[in-house]
Amino acid sequence: MKILGIETSCDETAAAVLEIKNRQWEIRSNVVSSQVKIHAKYGGIVPEVAAREHVTAMIPIINKALRRAKIVDPFKEIDLIAVTKGPGLVSSLLVGVGTARTLSYFWDKPLIGVNHLAGHIYSSLLDTKSSIFRFQFPVISLVASGGHTELVLLKDYEKFKVVGQTLDDAVGEAFDKVAKILGLGYPGGPLVSKLAKQGNSRAFDFPRPMIGSGDFNFSFSGLKTAVLYNRDKRQETRDKKYVADVCASFEQAAVDVLFFKTLKAAEKYKVKTVLLGGGVAANKKLRRELKGALRKKLPFAACYLPPVSYTGDNAAMIALAGYFRYKYAKNKSPFKENWRKLKVDPNWEL
Ligand code: KG4
Ligand code: ZN
Repeated sequence: MKILGIETSCDETAAAVLEIKNRQWEIRSNVVSSQVKIHAKYGGIVPEVAAREHVTAMIPIINKALRRAKIVDPFKEIDLIAVTKGPGLVSSLLVGVGTARTLSYFWDKPLIGVNHLAGHIYSSLLDTKSSIFRFQFPVISLVASGGHTELVLLKDYEKFKVVGQTLDDAVGEAFDKVAKILGLGYPGGPLVSKLAKQGNSRAFDFPRPMIGSGDFNFSFSGLKTAVLYNRDKRQETRDKKYVADVCASFEQAAVDVLFFKTLKAAEKYKVKTVLLGGGVAANKKLRRELKGALRKKLPFAACYLPPVSYTGDNAAMIALAGYFRYKYAKNKSPFKENWRKLKVDPNWEL
């Protein structure tokens, strides 16, 4: 079957075509139009601006995705439409969902609303060609993005249980705020991690918030404030060595908490598979340290990391999450009617 995926939950307008055949899947196209340069001027995402950009980008991006996938006649060739229904910015979600409903009606295709976080979880399966049934359950997935930091337990496909989450800032948000404190620009994750490579991760002993809390929740606001106080004391954001050392020490503290808690959850739930997803999954240190810690402490658990190009928001992961939701749904008939009634859910929890 061929699935058209659509994603507009934040500041990326994305469309993709995913084909599933004989238990193998192939990404036929994956098109992402990022608004990052537009929002960089404001130092963060402006929801009204994001929605307006989605409106102009949406149809050309879908067209491009269909063309690249060599879909000549979507009426005949597309079998399912999957769209992000939440969580995300309400006005951005409305553009994707409104477009998907219209296409579902005109093409007479079933329509499925996908949770953005499920997309990030399944993104670990996205290298170019692969079997779709690769996970062994139970699975623990760390979702680390600009809006979320969650540990999600899966007992089976579509059986999600959030076992831990951030009590304040998301880890990606902390990267973004630290970049702002150091005057580096937006988005902060890639900038901080690039400079961190030149710095000493032991230069400053920043806190590892909640690392010993005994549960699987996170907190990153105190870590960000520690960086702020450090900068205020030193007032040296033009000293390159100082900035690199702060980046490296901050990154180490954030990564330590993330992989330690993921490891603890993997042990507690005796998982067979560990996954990583979300924008922060692009962080090389996190990828390396999580893999290394698992190899040492849980050598029998498989660990899948999304290809870096699929760590940010994209529609291929939404198409894949849509496929699983569709496949494991007991009753598929409501999906035929979704063009009438699918609503956005900006605060949708897994
Ligand atoms: O998943 P995503 O693209 O959007 C959301 O759903 O939030 O995640 C974006 C977040 C941003 O906060 C960005 O700074 C962070 O991911 N990020 C990184 C890296 N690349 C992106 N954080 C740390 N290290 C990176 N290399
Ligand atoms: Zn995301």
